[in-house]
Amino acid sequence: MADLLKLGVLISGNGSNLQSIIDHIEKGSLKAVIKIVISNNPEAFGITRAKKHGINITVLNNRDFKSKEDFDSELIKILKKNKVELVILAGFTRILTPGFLQAFPQKIMNIHPALLPSFPGLHGQKQALDYGVKFSGCTVHFVDEGTDTGPIVIQGVVHVSDDDTVEGLAGRILKEEHRIYPQAIQFYAEGRLEIKDRKVRIKSIDKKLAKAMHNPPLSGF
Ligand code: GAR
Repeated sequence: MADLLKLGVLISGNGSNLQSIIDHIEKGSLKAVIKIVISNNPEAFGITRAKKHGINITVLNNRDFKSKEDFDSELIKILKKNKVELVILAGFTRILTPGFLQAFPQKIMNIHPALLPSFPGLHGQKQALDYGVKFSGCTVHFVDEGTDTGPIVIQGVVHVSDDDTVEGLAGRILKEEHRIYPQAIQFYAEGRLEIKDRKVRIKSIDKKLAKAMHNPPLSGF
Protein backbone atom coordinates (compact mmCIF):
# COMPACT_ATOMS: atom_id res chain seq x y z
CA MET A 1 0.00 0.00 0.00
CA ALA A 2 1.24 3.48 -0.90
CA ASP A 3 2.29 5.70 1.97
CA LEU A 4 -0.49 7.81 3.44
CA LEU A 5 -0.21 11.57 3.00
CA LYS A 6 0.87 13.11 6.29
CA LEU A 7 -1.32 16.04 7.32
CA GLY A 8 -0.93 18.75 9.94
CA VAL A 9 -4.26 20.47 10.66
CA LEU A 10 -4.36 23.97 12.15
CA ILE A 11 -7.57 25.04 13.87
CA SER A 12 -8.90 27.89 16.00
CA GLY A 13 -12.50 26.97 16.71
CA ASN A 14 -15.31 24.51 16.13
CA GLY A 15 -13.29 22.18 13.93
CA SER A 16 -16.16 20.84 11.81
CA ASN A 17 -13.86 20.75 8.76
CA LEU A 18 -11.33 18.83 10.85
CA GLN A 19 -14.18 16.43 11.71
CA SER A 20 -15.09 15.88 8.07
CA ILE A 21 -11.43 15.16 7.25
CA ILE A 22 -11.27 12.66 10.12
CA ASP A 23 -14.53 11.03 8.96
CA HIS A 24 -13.31 10.66 5.38
CA ILE A 25 -10.02 9.18 6.58
CA GLU A 26 -11.89 6.71 8.78
CA LYS A 27 -14.22 5.80 5.89
CA GLY A 28 -11.21 5.21 3.63
CA SER A 29 -12.19 7.84 1.02
CA LEU A 30 -9.27 10.05 2.02
CA LYS A 31 -5.91 8.29 1.98
CA ALA A 32 -4.15 10.42 4.54
CA VAL A 33 -3.15 10.43 8.18
CA ILE A 34 -3.41 13.37 10.56
CA LYS A 35 -0.02 13.48 12.28
CA ILE A 36 -0.85 16.50 14.40
CA VAL A 37 -3.63 18.99 15.10
CA ILE A 38 -2.49 22.37 16.39
CA SER A 39 -4.87 24.88 17.94
CA ASN A 40 -3.89 28.45 18.77
CA ASN A 41 -7.02 28.67 20.92
CA PRO A 42 -7.07 26.62 24.13
CA GLU A 43 -10.90 26.74 24.13
CA ALA A 44 -11.38 25.41 20.58
CA PHE A 45 -13.97 22.63 20.36
CA GLY A 46 -11.84 21.04 17.65
CA ILE A 47 -9.44 19.95 20.42
CA THR A 48 -12.16 17.71 21.87
CA ARG A 49 -12.88 16.30 18.41
CA ALA A 50 -9.22 15.42 17.83
CA LYS A 51 -8.85 13.82 21.27
CA LYS A 52 -11.95 11.70 20.73
CA HIS A 53 -10.27 10.15 17.70
CA GLY A 54 -6.92 9.65 19.44
CA ILE A 55 -5.17 12.24 17.29
CA ASN A 56 -2.06 14.04 18.53
CA ILE A 57 -3.01 17.57 19.57
CA THR A 58 -0.88 20.53 20.57
CA VAL A 59 -2.24 23.79 21.93
CA LEU A 60 -0.01 26.68 20.99
CA ASN A 61 -1.53 29.84 22.38
CA ASN A 62 -0.37 32.75 20.23
CA ARG A 63 -0.73 35.03 23.26
CA ASP A 64 2.25 33.24 24.82
CA PHE A 65 4.53 34.47 22.02
CA LYS A 66 6.24 37.84 21.66
CA SER A 67 5.80 38.06 17.89
CA LYS A 68 4.04 36.40 14.95
CA GLU A 69 7.44 35.20 13.77
CA ASP A 70 8.15 33.45 17.09
CA PHE A 71 4.74 31.79 17.03
CA ASP A 72 5.16 30.65 13.43
CA SER A 73 8.66 29.28 13.99
CA GLU A 74 7.32 27.11 16.80
CA LEU A 75 4.49 25.97 14.50
CA ILE A 76 7.06 25.08 11.81
CA LYS A 77 9.16 23.17 14.34
CA ILE A 78 6.20 21.03 15.45
CA LEU A 79 4.96 20.38 11.91
CA LYS A 80 8.46 19.41 10.68
CA LYS A 81 9.02 17.19 13.70
CA ASN A 82 5.84 15.36 12.73
CA LYS A 83 7.05 15.08 9.12
CA VAL A 84 3.93 16.85 7.85
CA GLU A 85 3.68 16.90 4.03
CA LEU A 86 0.57 19.09 3.66
CA VAL A 87 -0.61 21.78 6.07
CA ILE A 88 -4.40 22.11 6.29
CA LEU A 89 -5.89 25.36 7.57
CA ALA A 90 -9.32 24.48 8.93
CA GLY A 91 -10.84 27.60 10.41
CA PHE A 92 -7.41 28.81 11.51
CA THR A 93 -7.72 32.52 12.22
CA ARG A 94 -4.04 33.55 12.20
CA ILE A 95 -2.35 35.13 9.18
CA LEU A 96 0.81 33.18 8.40
CA THR A 97 4.17 34.92 8.11
CA PRO A 98 6.35 34.77 4.95
CA GLY A 99 8.71 32.48 6.90
CA PHE A 100 5.93 29.94 7.35
CA LEU A 101 5.02 30.05 3.64
CA GLN A 102 8.68 29.48 2.72
CA ALA A 103 8.86 26.48 5.05
CA PHE A 104 5.93 24.81 3.23
CA PRO A 105 6.00 26.07 -0.38
CA GLN A 106 2.74 25.15 -2.17
CA LYS A 107 2.05 22.77 0.66
CA ILE A 108 -0.56 24.78 2.57
CA MET A 109 -4.29 24.55 1.82
CA ASN A 110 -7.12 26.69 3.13
CA ILE A 111 -10.88 26.70 2.87
CA HIS A 112 -12.80 29.94 2.57
CA PRO A 113 -16.60 30.37 2.90
CA ALA A 114 -17.18 32.28 -0.37
CA LEU A 115 -16.53 31.94 -4.07
CA LEU A 116 -13.13 33.60 -4.33
CA PRO A 117 -11.95 36.04 -5.52
CA SER A 118 -15.25 37.51 -4.24
CA PHE A 119 -15.55 38.23 -0.55
CA PRO A 120 -12.11 37.38 0.85
CA GLY A 121 -11.19 38.04 4.47
CA LEU A 122 -13.57 37.90 7.39
CA HIS A 123 -17.32 37.09 7.28
CA GLY A 124 -17.42 35.90 3.65
CA GLN A 125 -21.00 34.66 4.09
CA LYS A 126 -22.28 38.04 5.35
CA GLN A 127 -20.37 39.91 2.66
CA ALA A 128 -22.06 37.77 -0.02
CA LEU A 129 -25.51 38.22 1.49
CA ASP A 130 -25.09 41.99 1.85
CA TYR A 131 -23.90 42.26 -1.74
CA GLY A 132 -26.96 40.44 -3.09
CA VAL A 133 -25.31 37.66 -5.09
CA LYS A 134 -27.51 34.76 -6.29
CA PHE A 135 -24.83 32.16 -5.66
CA SER A 136 -22.16 31.88 -3.05
CA GLY A 137 -20.22 28.90 -1.79
CA CYS A 138 -16.78 27.87 -0.72
CA THR A 139 -13.29 27.64 -2.13
CA VAL A 140 -10.35 25.38 -1.38
CA HIS A 141 -7.12 27.07 -2.39
CA PHE A 142 -3.39 26.89 -1.87
CA VAL A 143 -2.12 29.62 0.40
CA ASP A 144 0.13 32.36 -0.92
CA GLU A 145 1.27 35.66 0.58
CA GLY A 146 -2.08 37.41 -0.01
CA THR A 147 -5.35 37.09 1.88
CA ASP A 148 -7.34 34.29 0.23
CA THR A 149 -5.60 34.91 -3.11
CA GLY A 150 -3.80 31.61 -3.75
CA PRO A 151 -4.41 29.13 -6.60
CA ILE A 152 -7.93 27.64 -6.49
CA VAL A 153 -8.34 23.86 -6.27
CA ILE A 154 -12.13 23.34 -5.94
CA GLN A 155 -15.15 25.54 -5.46
CA GLY A 156 -18.59 24.47 -4.27
CA VAL A 157 -21.67 26.54 -5.15
CA VAL A 158 -24.68 27.23 -2.97
CA HIS A 159 -27.89 29.10 -3.89
CA VAL A 160 -28.64 32.31 -2.04
CA SER A 161 -32.38 32.82 -1.51
CA ASP A 162 -34.21 36.12 -1.06
CA ASP A 163 -35.00 35.43 2.58
CA ASP A 164 -31.61 33.94 3.50
CA THR A 165 -29.98 34.67 6.84
CA VAL A 166 -26.25 34.68 7.50
CA GLU A 167 -26.67 31.61 9.73
CA GLY A 168 -28.73 29.72 7.13
CA LEU A 169 -26.32 30.50 4.31
CA ALA A 170 -23.27 29.75 6.47
CA GLY A 171 -24.76 26.36 7.42
CA ARG A 172 -25.38 25.38 3.78
CA ILE A 173 -21.92 26.57 2.77
CA LEU A 174 -20.37 24.58 5.63
CA LYS A 175 -22.04 21.39 4.34
CA GLU A 176 -20.34 21.96 0.99
CA GLU A 177 -17.04 22.71 2.73
CA HIS A 178 -17.23 19.28 4.33
CA ARG A 179 -17.50 17.70 0.87
CA ILE A 180 -14.92 19.65 -1.11
CA TYR A 181 -12.08 19.92 1.43
CA PRO A 182 -11.51 16.16 1.83
CA GLN A 183 -11.82 15.77 -1.97
CA ALA A 184 -9.19 18.48 -2.59
CA ILE A 185 -6.82 16.78 -0.13
CA GLN A 186 -7.43 13.42 -1.81
CA PHE A 187 -6.57 14.93 -5.22
CA TYR A 188 -3.33 16.18 -3.65
CA ALA A 189 -2.66 12.75 -2.11
CA GLU A 190 -3.09 11.17 -5.54
CA GLY A 191 -0.55 13.60 -7.02
CA ARG A 192 -3.20 14.98 -9.39
CA LEU A 193 -2.76 18.69 -8.70
CA GLU A 194 -0.47 20.63 -11.01
CA ILE A 195 0.09 24.29 -10.17
CA LYS A 196 1.16 26.53 -13.02
CA ASP A 197 1.32 30.28 -12.42
CA ARG A 198 -1.86 30.77 -10.44
CA LYS A 199 -3.83 27.95 -11.99
CA VAL A 200 -4.38 24.49 -10.61
CA ARG A 201 -4.91 21.75 -13.16
CA ILE A 202 -6.49 18.54 -11.91
CA LYS A 203 -5.30 15.60 -13.92
CA SER A 204 -7.83 13.04 -15.25
CA ILE A 205 -10.99 14.76 -14.09
CA ASP A 206 -14.37 13.58 -15.46
CA LYS A 207 -15.34 16.61 -17.58
CA LYS A 208 -18.78 15.14 -18.39
CA LEU A 209 -19.85 16.00 -14.84
CA ALA A 210 -19.59 19.75 -15.47
CA LYS A 211 -23.01 21.44 -15.74
CA ALA A 212 -24.35 24.98 -15.81
CA MET A 213 -26.40 26.25 -12.86
CA HIS A 214 -28.91 29.06 -12.78
CA ASN A 215 -30.54 30.83 -9.86
CA PRO A 216 -33.44 31.64 -10.17
CA PRO A 217 -34.16 28.74 -12.59
CA LEU A 218 -34.67 29.72 -16.24
CA SER A 219 -38.21 29.37 -17.57
CA GLY A 220 -38.46 28.50 -21.24
CA PHE A 221 -34.93 29.62 -22.17
C1 GAR B 1 -15.37 27.64 7.98
O1 GAR B 1 -16.57 28.17 7.50
C2 GAR B 1 -14.21 28.11 7.14
O2 GAR B 1 -14.53 28.23 5.79
C3 GAR B 1 -13.95 29.46 7.75
O3 GAR B 1 -14.08 29.28 9.13
C4 GAR B 1 -15.02 28.23 9.36
C5 GAR B 1 -14.38 27.21 10.27
O4 GAR B 1 -15.32 26.24 10.65
N1 GAR B 1 -12.66 29.95 7.39
C6 GAR B 1 -12.42 31.23 7.07
O5 GAR B 1 -13.27 32.10 7.13
C7 GAR B 1 -10.99 31.51 6.65
N2 GAR B 1 -10.91 32.78 5.99
P1 GAR B 1 -14.86 24.93 11.40
O6 GAR B 1 -13.95 25.37 12.56
O7 GAR B 1 -16.16 24.34 11.90
O8 GAR B 1 -14.14 24.06 10.43
